[in-house]
Amino acid sequence: MRKLVGVLTAGGDTPGLNAALRGLGKAANEAFDIEVLGFYDGFRGLMQNRTLRLDSSTLSGILTIGGTILGTSRDKPHKMPVGNTIMDMTDVMVGTYENLHLDALVCLGGGGTQKSAYHLLQRGLNVVTLPKTIDNDVAMTDVTFGFDTAMGIATEAIDRLHSTAHSHHRIIVVEIMGHNAGWLALGSGIAGGADVILIPEIPYDIESIAGAILARSRGGKRFSIVAVSEGAMSIDDYKKMKSLEKELDDGDDDGKRSKDEIKAELDAFEADQQSSTLFLANRLQELTGLESRLTILGHLQRGGAPSATDRLLATRLGTHAARLIHKGNYGIMVGVQGGETVPVPLDEVAGKRKVIPLDHAWIDSARNVGTNLGD
Ligand code: F6P
Repeated sequence: MRKLVGVLTAGGDTPGLNAALRGLGKAANEAFDIEVLGFYDGFRGLMQNRTLRLDSSTLSGILTIGGTILGTSRDKPHKMPVGNTIMDMTDVMVGTYENLHLDALVCLGGGGTQKSAYHLLQRGLNVVTLPKTIDNDVAMTDVTFGFDTAMGIATEAIDRLHSTAHSHHRIIVVEIMGHNAGWLALGSGIAGGADVILIPEIPYDIESIAGAILARSRGGKRFSIVAVSEGAMSIDDYKKMKSLEKELDDGDDDGKRSKDEIKAELDAFEADQQSSTLFLANRLQELTGLESRLTILGHLQRGGAPSATDRLLATRLGTHAARLIHKGNYGIMVGVQGGETVPVPLDEVAGKRKVIPLDHAWIDSARNVGTNLGD
């Protein structure tokens, strides 16, 4: 009997998702005689059994298009907003899978999706995942698709900010996505020649940044580009966050606050970090006397056509996933390690995050070209 496989795209959209759907679908249909059914809007479509058959007509012409033809959502199987409440809808999703007699479910997503997919694996579904995110922070793969495109967009933005910063003798702080990992800011910061690059992996000292900018000024360079990863933090904020996380794990020393209260404080603290790039820009203006502006690149970094590198990577991972499904290899993420396409057991991926190791070559290169990393 022909195999029937479901596929969904979950989490934030990423350039290359359509290329991956096309790679998976075409290889499944044509090379391995497997039928593919897409679910709309991530895990929500699986819950609601809303589907689109992925065949030669729906897969045609999508390689170069950004976003995902299936739509996406950040909904999780066990924490699904339903009306005004959050419910565990895992059973309903398992029901859809069983009623459709699926042989496997392919989930394309970042860290959150890998976790949700693992949850469904533990409920007995034959799950295969692909790593996608512009953040490049999925564990056990060297790279995720979407990252290269976003890095190109952020690099071009830094290039363009240079001429206006130079003309006006300004500091321009540019906020770059990446969640709690600095790959995107570091990669585009180096490629775009940012003078300061701030990443979550290295808590920063504003005085050190101001010192570096003033030293540039004294050397005749009266402008600076500061590339900041959205998750970057000052040393003080970093210490506060770590102490709240510790309290959450160990409990409040004097027992005055419940875990829920500590968690609420931590969440509020993390949400407040969104505004810290504006604070940083203003503070640098005060400390250096140079006019300063903030540019937030935001969702521009996720929009539009995928780069050639991402199209290639997504096609490679999608087609390889079809091959593994054909062989009956489940419970895995199809990743890239040392140039090879490899199946990685999902329990080695779920719940982990790949941040930049402090001895990474990119950090070394940035320092060697004189970039201030905030420390
Ligand atoms: O995970 C991808 C990402 O773009 C992060 O870099 C960013 O923090 C987040 O998604 C933004 O999420 P949303 O699109 O839900 O605002």
